[in-house]
Amino acid sequence: MTKILVIHGPNLNLLGARETSVYGTVTLDEINRLLEKTAKEYSVELATFQSNHEGDIVDTIGRSVKDGFSAIVINPAAYTHTSVAIRDAISAVKLPTVEVHLSNIYAREEFRHQSMSAPACAGQVSGFGPYSYVLGLLAAIDIVNQ
Ligand code: DQA
Repeated sequence: MTKILVIHGPNLNLLGARETSVYGTVTLDEINRLLEKTAKEYSVELATFQSNHEGDIVDTIGRSVKDGFSAIVINPAAYTHTSVAIRDAISAVKLPTVEVHLSNIYAREEFRHQSMSAPACAGQVSGFGPYSYVLGLLAAIDIVNQ
């Protein structure tokens, strides 16, 4: 069965309570459950991982091929805008990767308009709340099935 890795970056563990006017009230557990439901519909196996630490995210991406994953869906959160290490990890493993954001990063502060990681990804989904993750997962499944 196809295995897809979902990575949530820093502070996303606080979803539901964090800046609800920007990110809404849905929790990370609820997003993961939504993704599990979608994965089941498409007969895909899912693993979800959240970390507030850049190196842990880099390590997890680095292990992803050995761990049997075929694609990655990642919300690098604040590391989107800063992390050369996460971008390089995505380029290194060469797995099809979809970057997702709950908020529309291009409609927010200027420093969020640049994504360090997006050029290493197959594409990006931004601005649809929890549904960004579902769209990202569907895109990842589509790429794997091509
Ligand atoms: C975010 C957008 C980032 O700019 C921010 O740092 C986050 C969340 C999003 O999902 O909208 O933590 O990635």
